[in-house]
Amino acid sequence: MGNHSSKTTNYYTCNYHVMFSSQKLITKNKMDFDEREHLGHVIIREIFEKNFSSNVHDILNRDTKILDIGCGSGFWLTEMAADFPKPSYIGVDMLPVFPTSTVPSNITFKQLNLLEGLPFEDNTFDFIHMQFLACDFTELQWETIVYKELARVLKPGGWLEICDPEFEFYNSGPTAKQINSAVCTYLRSRNVNPLIVQRHRSLIESIPSFSSSIVYHEKRHFPLGPYANKLGILGGFLTVKCCKDILLGPVGKIAKINTDINDILTREFDSHNTYFLVHRFYVQKKK
Ligand SMILES: C[S@@+](CC[C@H](N)C(=O)[O-])C[C@H]1O[C@@H](n2cnc3c(N)ncnc32)[C@H](O)[C@@H]1O
Repeated sequence: MGNHSSKTTNYYTCNYHVMFSSQKLITKNKMDFDEREHLGHVIIREIFEKNFSSNVHDILNRDTKILDIGCGSGFWLTEMAADFPKPSYIGVDMLPVFPTSTVPSNITFKQLNLLEGLPFEDNTFDFIHMQFLACDFTELQWETIVYKELARVLKPGGWLEICDPEFEFYNSGPTAKQINSAVCTYLRSRNVNPLIVQRHRSLIESIPSFSSSIVYHEKRHFPLGPYANKLGILGGFLTVKCCKDILLGPVGKIAKINTDINDILTREFDSHNTYFLVHRFYVQKKK
């Protein structure tokens, strides 16, 4: 079992929450936080056309165990548990951001920090999903803890799926460039590689129980403006909102730009056809 110790409830240990000043958002307006998470979940599902890419249809139609790491508000789990009711689902997050009431009977949420080691036996889960934690681990933690721990609790023959964005706007205008550069400076100051997705394949392949497996990779555009129809409008709306929230925290001190960016950023995204890239990697553990 992992070297699990005490619960971590400190928002300041998590880059994502520091960057978004989530503590304020969660304690004062959890609905705002949930709305952002829900919109992100819906857009990712739409651009990949489904909630997962791994070859897990058989797993999803049996009494199996499925783990979502860094589950946030739990939208992925809630949808999976409704679509595929036979498995038992566990959602893990280092902070108590997941639902505590009206939880479907096939989902259990636990407050746990992956970096402290998971309190599960080796070879427990048939499918492990982890989405949008690229900024939460230092490059060293990805290299030495994250994939090792995920591989340990995954059953032989089970599937691991990771979905992460690149912290890089493509076709960006001047405001987006400035924000992008400040985000990367902030992340690097916390020893986070903003383009860690470019290392996911080799990091997965370095784990012995994955080294003889094929690592599948899909990449999609996350469009940011009406140039890409309804999805682009939603993507732009969410990203402008995220940039605004981010500028209220430590990134704002680096970027030194006005936080009243709604109109200018929305126009820029649309006139430049701005987008960023989201990647999914999935791999089956050696049987
Ligand atoms: C960007 S949110 C993603 C939420 C969800 N997976 C999604 O795609 O909408 C990242 C989540 O990971 C959680 N997290 C960060 N570091 C973690 C860790 N070491 N162990 C468990 N959860 C962690 C954060 O608390 C946050 O809720």
